[in-house]
Amino acid sequence: MSARRVVVLHGPNLNLLGRREPEIYGTTTLADIDRALADRARTLGATVECAQHNGEGALVDAIQATMGTDVFGLVINPGGYTHTSVAIRDALVATGLPVVEVHLSNVYAREAFRHRSLIADVVKARVMGFGARGYLLGLEGLLAPDGV
Ligand code: DQA
Repeated sequence: MSARRVVVLHGPNLNLLGRREPEIYGTTTLADIDRALADRARTLGATVECAQHNGEGALVDAIQATMGTDVFGLVINPGGYTHTSVAIRDALVATGLPVVEVHLSNVYAREAFRHRSLIADVVKARVMGFGARGYLLGLEGLLAPDGV
């Protein structure tokens, strides 16, 4: 069986991880996260293709690019667009692929405007509050067979 391909998308400002509000987002950098994801994917018989975009349109393009391919599913942290982007929601739905929504912070323990996610009801699962580790948990959940 060929390795399952997972696309991991990081939204705006996540390129600043490690330097950005470390008391909220931790000190792990995006490069650290992407490296850990690649390592974990390998142990799970998968590969990850990680990308970060600050622009909403670039994220929509990256989501659309999975259509008509053999991509297995997506892990996405849309950053601030989580709370605003109908376009990202629509693109995710269009793919028909399983999606895991990841947030480093527990958005419900923060400002009220972060409590609304426009993708929460169209994703397979959501992981938040575990910091950088949440990406690995999301990847594992996406790739896991049913059952315990
Ligand atoms: C975030 C939470 C968002 O509210 C925020 O805008 C981010 C990061 C998180 O990973 O905790 O950029 O998605």
